[in-house]
Amino acid sequence: MEQLIDPFARAISYLRVSVTDRCDFRCVYCMSENMQFLPKKELLTLEELDRLCSTFIGLGVRKLRITGGEPLVRRGIMTFFEGMKRHLDSGALHELTLTTNGSQLAKYADALYAAGVRRINVSLDTLDEAKFAEITRWGRLPQVLAGVEAALAAGLKVKINTVALKDFNEDELLTLIEWCASRQMDLTFIEVMPMGDIGNENRLGQYWPLRDLRATLAEHYTLINIPLNTGGPARYVQLGETGQRVGFITPLTHNFCESCNRVRITCTGEIYTCLGQEGHSDLRGPLRASSDDTVLEDAIRAAIALKPKGHDFDYSRDRLDGQMTRHMSHTGG
Ligand code: GTP
Ligand code: 5AD
Ligand code: SF4
Repeated sequence: MEQLIDPFARAISYLRVSVTDRCDFRCVYCMSENMQFLPKKELLTLEELDRLCSTFIGLGVRKLRITGGEPLVRRGIMTFFEGMKRHLDSGALHELTLTTNGSQLAKYADALYAAGVRRINVSLDTLDEAKFAEITRWGRLPQVLAGVEAALAAGLKVKINTVALKDFNEDELLTLIEWCASRQMDLTFIEVMPMGDIGNENRLGQYWPLRDLRATLAEHYTLINIPLNTGGPARYVQLGETGQRVGFITPLTHNFCESCNRVRITCTGEIYTCLGQEGHSDLRGPLRASSDDTVLEDAIRAAIALKPKGHDFDYSRDRLDGQMTRHMSHTGG
């Protein structure tokens, strides 16, 4: 079977699948408080998700990340994970993982490990209970911290993802680093991207460029650039003093699109070949039209032939360019 190659000669080996647009939190940079969610009948069934992912794996996808909304609020999602284990066992899939807000981890950590998941990313922007409630609107910090501990106890490697937010978590940089170091967790910072209408929140006001964060970090630690590549967009340094790894995802200050290896599927079966562009194609139609997988494979190849070169996010000159109308929860980050 021929590999998936896009028009810019990039091989597609990483699939990110959003299994629900719903979430039990309402993070201020991600959602408005009154989100309209899709009717359940619009969603791909668990069987359809399995068939779609299996087809991608047949076409050379080696890394599968499950996202949302919050993937662990999708009913029956463990059945899907357990099904994907067969691709890990056969060696076709190299990594099965998820990005989660951590709220349901205490319940599911053991089952995830049993399904072959070894490494997960947990989104956490602050260790302060009041600030956590403020930024997530509906989230409660102790529940997430218990989830993280459960994941570690289950044997999962945990990476913390922190969105760098001006005037919000600037003062917690060192606290977050120390907390992660004490648990052997890597930590990745993400620049906030202009995704979706978020009500009264001000995007430019939220933006804390990671080059500034990095400069502050360098005042306290020795930063050693390391070539680690997990297949995602983060670039890593190692802290000389603690040995821990800190990643930077910098869609605004540095465009990493030239090495992009990924595409995204929404919970309704749309394929987005770029997080930062509106272009997408439907895979649910071809999926439902025929039980013959070649119909679906043709639709996947046609979609990848339209993958754009990169996104156009730009906050320079105090203006916001490249704003997306859809929310992050639609395509899963
Ligand atoms: P690792 O496997 O640990 O490297 O994870 P990852 O960074 O690939 O996945 P994760 O879900 O942790 O991604 C973190 C965030 O990086 C996402 O939520 C997005 O905000 C951002 N991100 C990932 N891929 C892209 C991309 O292709 N373009 C842009 N602009 N941002 C991305
Ligand atoms: N910009 C950057 N990161 C975002 N996330 C959600 N919305 C945004 C945004 N506008 C992050 C979450 C989580 C991941 C899935 O995406 O915090 O870590
Ligand atoms: Fe939910 Fe994640 Fe969006 Fe927060 S960032 S509202 S946890 S999907």
